[in-house]
Amino acid sequence: MATEPQEQTVCAKGWVRTKRGNKNVTFVALNDGSCIGNLQVVADPGTIDGEVLRKITTGASLSVVGKLIASQGGKQAVELQAEVIEVLGEADPEEYPLQPKKHSLEFLRDIAHLRPRTNTFSAIMRVRHAMIFAVHKFFNEKGFVNVHTPIITHSDAEGAGETFRVTTIDPENAPKTEDGKVDYTQDFFGKETNLTVSGQLEGELAAMAMGEIYTFGPTFRAENSNTTRHLAEFWMIEPEMAFYDLVDTMDLAEEFLKYLIQYALENCMEDLQFLDKRFADENKGKPANERSDMGLIEKLNFVLENDFERLTYTEAIDILLKSKPNKKKKFKYLIEEWGADLQSEHERYLVEKHFKKPVILTDYPKEIKAFYMRHNEDGKTVAAMDILFPGIGEIVGGSQREERLENLVTLMNQIGIPQEDLDWYLDTRRFGSAQHSGFGLGFERLMLFVTGMGNIRDVIPFPRTPKNCEF
Ligand code: 4AD
Ligand code: MG
Repeated sequence: MATEPQEQTVCAKGWVRTKRGNKNVTFVALNDGSCIGNLQVVADPGTIDGEVLRKITTGASLSVVGKLIASQGGKQAVELQAEVIEVLGEADPEEYPLQPKKHSLEFLRDIAHLRPRTNTFSAIMRVRHAMIFAVHKFFNEKGFVNVHTPIITHSDAEGAGETFRVTTIDPENAPKTEDGKVDYTQDFFGKETNLTVSGQLEGELAAMAMGEIYTFGPTFRAENSNTTRHLAEFWMIEPEMAFYDLVDTMDLAEEFLKYLIQYALENCMEDLQFLDKRFADENKGKPANERSDMGLIEKLNFVLENDFERLTYTEAIDILLKSKPNKKKKFKYLIEEWGADLQSEHERYLVEKHFKKPVILTDYPKEIKAFYMRHNEDGKTVAAMDILFPGIGEIVGGSQREERLENLVTLMNQIGIPQEDLDWYLDTRRFGSAQHSGFGLGFERLMLFVTGMGNIRDVIPFPRTPKNCEF
């Protein structure tokens, strides 16, 4: 793409997007997935055999040797004047499911192995790669250590009980204990195990030794949420920092999100421009109340240029109680009193209607948050923080951790987490305990924001959702 055309001989390999032309010349748009633009191949029937030209159809893979020349047509800078074309793999036009027209995202999900051959998904996958790289770059520059936390675990960090069981026991033939229950002591690990819902608890162990660490791995939640924001398998980035309080953590999270967005703007502009157009087209078709008043790139710049609004849960409840949709009973879940769990409609009201920018909510009621969060002096709230983004709702969840052994044990007892299960975790509070904090960024929620896509299934190559585990 950046190569100057000087009639040099090159070999290009890729897949045919379109073929057009007449009996005097054939134009093939070839794409190798490295960027959104195609390479125009010009094939002259005097040079290229008619049988070869016939086999060039949308979806076929080609190897083309020829001269790179300045393009005659206005649309592209260079074209490849073909000397030898080899059709590496034909694609029967009667059967090839991708046609050079716009397909629905739903249709494409069903042919996930061919999805990356489309402009939309290849753009998303390249941005995804850039974001993965930028995550590691950010933390590396700050001296954080990347820690791989286990995927198979015995713990349910978030305590929501939405775990996928991992077992080698044959369900038809399970060994039983005397009281008729499944005997997991005979299972592979000698106890019940599940896929991790978060690397946090193990991450805390590392932070309480190495100071600043982060995890970046797959997480699994068996919540039956068939929404555009939930996956059963998603990727999460979880930094954990010794000696940080909640404010330090919010500062880090805001800096991190802005860094990632900045990185995308600096390194993925071609793909973002394509996605920006797509976003604008989709936006036109939406009902007025759901329409975004900014374009995608405009939105990304807007987030970069503005401080996130920080307020407490209590302040947010006041705003919501007085809000129009609450008074006019437009919310599906009406806010009646302090203590209510915020639904995404409330989060989006705060972000999109009230503040019109990203919001960090802090100090939630302890009843609606996880057991490990630090109790505030008021006895009612915990040092939690959620970052809410326009069009997304919650993108980050984090907290200062309860570092006081007694408080933690009391709480675990109250909600029925057996102490022996988490003894290894409690050890960090027994020996050299210290203030520490962390947060989790849902990687696909970030991808939703950066690409402007509307459904989380379209920003991961192989989405897993309830009743859907193809490929
Ligand atoms: O708020 P969550 O549940 O927090 C934790 O797991 C903590 N252990 C994080 C920490 O403090 N280290 O999840 C964190 C983020 C959410 O804010 C959301 O962005 C994303 O993970 N997330 C999901 N993304 C896609 N599909 C789902 N089902 C998700 N559940 C959470
Ligand atoms: Mg959360």
